[in-house]
Amino acid sequence: MIGRGAASLAPFAPQAERRWTVGSTDRVAIVGGCGHVGLPLGLAFADAGLPVVLYDIDAAAVDKVRAGKMPFFEKDADEVLARVLANGNLTLTCDPTLVSGVDHVVVVIGTPVDEHLNPDPGAVVQAIELMIDHLRDGQHLVMRSTVYPGVTALVERLLARHGLAIDVSFCPERIAEGRAIEELRSLPQIVSGRTPEAVRRAGDLFGWLTDKTIPLEVEEAELAKLFTNTWRYIKFAAANQLYMIATDYGADFERIRAAMIEDYPRAADIPGAGLAAGPCLLKDTMQLAAFNRNNFMLGHASMLVNEGLPGYLVDQIEAVHDLSTMTVGLLGMAFKGESDDIRSSLSYKLKRLLKLKAGRVLCTDPYVTVDGDLEPLDLVLEQADLLVVAAPHHVYRSLAPRVPVFDIWNLLPTAKPT
Ligand SMILES: NC(=O)c1ccc[n+]([C@@H]2O[C@H](COP(=O)([O-])OP(=O)(O)OC[C@H]3O[C@@H](n4cnc5c(N)ncnc54)[C@H](O)[C@@H]3O)[C@@H](O)[C@H]2O)c1
Repeated sequence: MIGRGAASLAPFAPQAERRWTVGSTDRVAIVGGCGHVGLPLGLAFADAGLPVVLYDIDAAAVDKVRAGKMPFFEKDADEVLARVLANGNLTLTCDPTLVSGVDHVVVVIGTPVDEHLNPDPGAVVQAIELMIDHLRDGQHLVMRSTVYPGVTALVERLLARHGLAIDVSFCPERIAEGRAIEELRSLPQIVSGRTPEAVRRAGDLFGWLTDKTIPLEVEEAELAKLFTNTWRYIKFAAANQLYMIATDYGADFERIRAAMIEDYPRAADIPGAGLAAGPCLLKDTMQLAAFNRNNFMLGHASMLVNEGLPGYLVDQIEAVHDLSTMTVGLLGMAFKGESDDIRSSLSYKLKRLLKLKAGRVLCTDPYVTVDGDLEPLDLVLEQADLLVVAAPHHVYRSLAPRVPVFDIWNLLPTAKPT
């Protein structure tokens, strides 16, 4: 175990002896440095005292971060960004040549599945190939994207083909979006590499953030990351299916769940029901399914349950309301509570389904800034004949709507569907 960090939001101290000088072995570049994972990670390293280059092909995001503005919501990140821009530890660039000047190159570009839910095992390899001329012997390349198993080995072969002597490690990211700054400093870090030197360098690097590193073989670590997200996705599906069973039977899922949990630790981890969405859980479950030759019944069944929930909710509403003349208000378009991220949000599936049925659908969200079709909450509350809570933002807890509310999240305990 190697660790020098601490789970606190204050800047790491003492900083002075850690500041970069020529010959230091801890200069870091993040490839994909303005993304949801790359940016908080870069901020955390820079705040720990490391000189960090955030390299990204998205020029608008680079300009925004350089100007001190976060491109998305991340708790405590504004404060850290201001600090590391002021102390000179952070450099923003679209120029890949800056990658050659660092010791650790962390690759954390997106790894989405395509419209047929197929992963692209070549995505990370191609991104590295594009900057291959800027890599050099002696560097440490950290794979941090969530990858199809075997991609780290592909990257190792790519580097070998180009005659590069680079230590490669795979160190998966396990933060929850929105809580990255805090979690990077409190979660243990899984580290893996083919050689003791790669594992040592990975441990040393992440030791700047966390007190605990957990070594695994490379392929074990690739699977550990996929299993982590798949496990959550399956748990949400189990809760959602139980919700549907209870509701179809006329029973109250939340009352049952509360009774199951009360002073009974073995059931304590049953999640509430809700839309299980976002850029990772379905995607990584499908990566694992593809890896297992599409033989992953639990994963595919979870997809059917979770992706089918919006349709189930619309059926539930239609069973008691003639939607054709009604205005439906959709509360929350982000993929989860207290987030501004709409990537793979099931709120939009719900919106599409409701638009087929309802007279009008009005959408609102206090955090989302990238959707031009949103209305202020007050207007939605005033004009809607019926409300559906799609994302469980805290602000909705205190609402006392005058119209029926469909609230799968159990956010407004007094507002039962009518
Ligand atoms: N979002 C999460 O909560 C989360 C959590 C854990 C792991 N992950 C994994 O981390 C990875 C990144 O996810 P994300 O949500 O940060 O994606 P993202 O789309 O927010 O960020 C990716 C960034 O990479 C940049 N990029 C793309 N190609 C590039 C290239 N060739 N060179 C330089 N920059 C490039 C993009 O412009 C973007 O800013 C994925 O594999 C994801 O599964 C995500």
